[in-house]
Amino acid sequence: MWFFKKMCTSKARLDGKTVVITGANSGIGKETARDFYGRGARVILLCRNMEKMNEAVEDIKNNPPSRIKKDEYQSNAGELAIYSLDLSSLKSVRDCAKNLLVKEAAIHILVNNAGVAFHPYQKTEDGNEMTLQTNHLGHFLLTLLLLPKMQSSSPGCRIVNVSSIFHIVGNINFDDINLEKSYTPTKGYTQSKLANILFTKELARRLKKADIHGVNVYSLHPGLMPTEISRHSNNTLFPGVAFLYNCLTWLLFKNVEEGAQTTIYCSVDEKAANETGLYYSDCSVATRLRRTGDDQYAKNLWDVSCKLLHLEPEEDFTTFLQTVSSQIL
Ligand SMILES: NC(=O)c1ccc[n+]([C@@H]2O[C@H](COP(=O)([O-])OP(=O)(O)OC[C@H]3O[C@@H](n4cnc5c(N)ncnc54)[C@H](OP(=O)(O)O)[C@@H]3O)[C@@H](O)[C@H]2O)c1
Repeated sequence: MWFFKKMCTSKARLDGKTVVITGANSGIGKETARDFYGRGARVILLCRNMEKMNEAVEDIKNNPPSRIKKDEYQSNAGELAIYSLDLSSLKSVRDCAKNLLVKEAAIHILVNNAGVAFHPYQKTEDGNEMTLQTNHLGHFLLTLLLLPKMQSSSPGCRIVNVSSIFHIVGNINFDDINLEKSYTPTKGYTQSKLANILFTKELARRLKKADIHGVNVYSLHPGLMPTEISRHSNNTLFPGVAFLYNCLTWLLFKNVEEGAQTTIYCSVDEKAANETGLYYSDCSVATRLRRTGDDQYAKNLWDVSCKLLHLEPEEDFTTFLQTVSSQIL
């Protein structure tokens, strides 16, 4: 439907900028990478599967977004680089951050996009519920570890967290955060997507309080579209649901290029440059629903996340970042 298909109209170039995207080998992440590459950025794809990663690189290099002609795209394109990241392993998150900090001179934009949905119940090697760690905790840690580099690359830096409209039915289950007693695939996904929005809000608050300017934080709903996100749902919801979701979203909502537009908007558009801590949909600020307006709720999630990562939730943000960084020295 046309009214769900707003495109990012910014012509901003990203020459000389470095952008990091998680889950960039497929779906929204790959389309976002394609757009940034066309704008001249050094685009770093963080993925866990080398084969898929190499295929994505070839695809991005050879196929422009629909708005640009191929020769124009290739003559103005940036660079592509790949690093390994598995968010279901905190060791992998720390190793990836360390590699980026050592090898990259700057990081201007971080897009926390990777995600799983409707996963069967599983614990990661770190003892956390798989969806919570992949979608929220891994990104929480990665962001904190990359923040000092972004600070030194500022002004104009942005952290973009890809959430979902499904956060509206989510709850943070503080007394059973790993959902050991009450897991359902829907509960796992909606909790993690609500966490993306609360993390955005609380990180923006802490940055402001610590007088750290030039790094803004955004969360968003990309829209509904056919991607591989529904891959587990045939087993955990009901057979055929992935096919049904992909057909319905393709017919009624967006294709993947359209689905990447709000991520691109939050990452580059001039209109969003002075905003932080907000939630977006269809390339504009949207109303966050449910508990996302509750400051204490966001603070509680921050504290629980720190506990799961064995970090002291120190109120002084600069000291806190130093403590986090000491984990990878
Ligand atoms: N599609 C929709 O309708 C929709 C709606 C609302 C929100 N979203 C959100 O959009 C984001 C992107 O999803 P998508 O629709 O583009 O789905 P997708 O095509 O399945 O992409 C997800 C990406 O995340 C990566 N990933 C999953 N687990 C990972 C891990 N442990 N470590 C590193 N990377 C991992 C995947 O890598 P592999 O290929 O190796 O698995 C893939 O690159 C997600 O956060 C999702 O919640 C999507």
